[in-house]
Amino acid sequence: MCGIVGYIGTKKAVPILLEGLSKLEYRGYDSAGIAVFEDGNISITKDEGRVNHLQDLLNNKPTNANIGIAHTRWATHGKPSEINAHPHADNSKKFSVVHNGIIENYSDIKKFLMDNEYKFLSDTDTEVIPNLISYYYDSTNNLLEAISLACKDFKGSYAIEVICSDCPDRIIVAKKDSPLVIGTSKEGNYIASDIPAVLSHTKDFYLLEDNDIVEVFPSKLNFYNQNLELISRKTEKISWDASSIEKNGFEDFMLKEIYEQPKSIRETIGFKLNKEKIELDNISFTKEFLSNINKIFIIACGTAMHAGLATKLTFENLCKIPVEVDMASEFRYRNPLIDKKTLAIFISQSGETADTIGALKLAKEKGATTIALSNVIGSSITREADIYLYTHAGPEIAVASTKAYTAQVTLLNILALYFAEILEYSDTKLIKELKYELLQLPNKIDDILKNYKEVIPIAKDIYSASDVFFLGRGIDYPVAMEGSLKLKEISYIHSESYAAGELKHGPIALIDNNFPVISIVTDEMLSSKTISNIQEVVSRGAKTIIVTNQDLSKNFDYIIKIPKTHKYLTPILSVIPLQLLAYYISKEKGLDVDKPRNLAKSVTVE
Ligand code: F6R
Repeated sequence: MCGIVGYIGTKKAVPILLEGLSKLEYRGYDSAGIAVFEDGNISITKDEGRVNHLQDLLNNKPTNANIGIAHTRWATHGKPSEINAHPHADNSKKFSVVHNGIIENYSDIKKFLMDNEYKFLSDTDTEVIPNLISYYYDSTNNLLEAISLACKDFKGSYAIEVICSDCPDRIIVAKKDSPLVIGTSKEGNYIASDIPAVLSHTKDFYLLEDNDIVEVFPSKLNFYNQNLELISRKTEKISWDASSIEKNGFEDFMLKEIYEQPKSIRETIGFKLNKEKIELDNISFTKEFLSNINKIFIIACGTAMHAGLATKLTFENLCKIPVEVDMASEFRYRNPLIDKKTLAIFISQSGETADTIGALKLAKEKGATTIALSNVIGSSITREADIYLYTHAGPEIAVASTKAYTAQVTLLNILALYFAEILEYSDTKLIKELKYELLQLPNKIDDILKNYKEVIPIAKDIYSASDVFFLGRGIDYPVAMEGSLKLKEISYIHSESYAAGELKHGPIALIDNNFPVISIVTDEMLSSKTISNIQEVVSRGAKTIIVTNQDLSKNFDYIIKIPKTHKYLTPILSVIPLQLLAYYISKEKGLDVDKPRNLAKSVTVE
């Protein structure tokens, strides 16, 4: 989704802003723009298209400016176009603004401003921001006050950067429900919606909180609340390495991230299994507290929700507490039954997904104890929840999530084991076995990755298919869902996932010659049943691809063997060939694997 970069300091701003924007390209966008401040004027350059194109436009406008704001836009209100791209100016051209988020009451504000003779050029919600600031500036003649009054009027979410030609020595930023950070260094201050955008310049960051307004000078920051009272904020040292967000010799980020899974699982496990009983930073639940919990919700979106589905069984079996997994966008509007005896776990790689944050706020309001699992330190979801835990997958740049998913399934299994130990689950042998198997996962993933070549002929065989089915039963069904999502998002092939037993209740009508059906068969108790379902599609001419940890007959077109592990952990292994298959199919079709059309890495709008 939209990205923000800003710089003020002693260096030239444009190269820093362009570099930052290109680091944010992975988030998905359709237009880009920059405003710099030079010789008393604000100069805006923007257009539809990629950051490269913006760079070409800027090559014709050399500037030594050392203050600037920049943006990549992912269209919400109004199509991708030069006019709708950010930065947006007010009518007097005194203010220039970039914005992430959505101003939900923008049409009311627009009407009010139009009644006051303001004119609008774009279809965006953002254009009301510089104009409302300008409106308040006319009466207050005070930039900070004008911005604070405007922010009080906005409903919805915003992270904004504002420059004003009357105050050429500063950038003002403000945020609510949309992330914004400020990195500090001797050469100046760096603003960004995401840390990776400016991580090559500094590791010291302020992670802004909702309703913060900050005056950013080259070597000073003034933090205010919305009533313009001075407040203090602390910096955090970010441990990510700038090189961890480069491709390191891989053709694409997605492939690099698939190969990083052994490491990200090792780091997510960390020292958690080292002691006799699991200990987790930030949580100290008691038996009394957990025995009182009568319902666990696991709430997330997309791939993160699949991680929840893949671990429902572990929580239910080890903790004997009913678990409901739901999509955040549905959960938050269905008046779910929640009370003080509810434990609600929210999973979000980015920690900024609007629906997941909305669902978390609702669960908290209704009295649940909330736990957030995120991959991003200090992300909004971790600040909102009662308790947070981190996956340590490192920055995930490719839009299609891979290493975050396997890290989430790993961490959720550890969390279930942690609960089970507190609740004194009787099968201690099983707990021991799961801990042992968790530690074996990285090597087993390495083994699967070594056989990546097995997947390439399958990709070449089926890349031109128009539809694909994914089947699985039990623990394999959420993996079928995840495999199907991976394939559709990066190859644009229509695919659907089914619980294998459901096929004959309708979808089998679609099967005909060469229809690819990809099945996951890992649960010994269920495999004969899944195989019977696969035979039903074989009889109707389907092309069958099976991911399994068992010795199956050769009656199928392709069999991909994976190592065995405990049933609860198989979703971490069985998904790997499906990630690779989606990747190689996308490559076969010549598509942009890392930046699939219409998608954004961090979905900060509902
Ligand atoms: C798919 C994918 C998405 C995300 C979803 C939630 O590959 O990445 O389905 O899983 O948008 O994102 P987070 O985890 O950041 O909340």
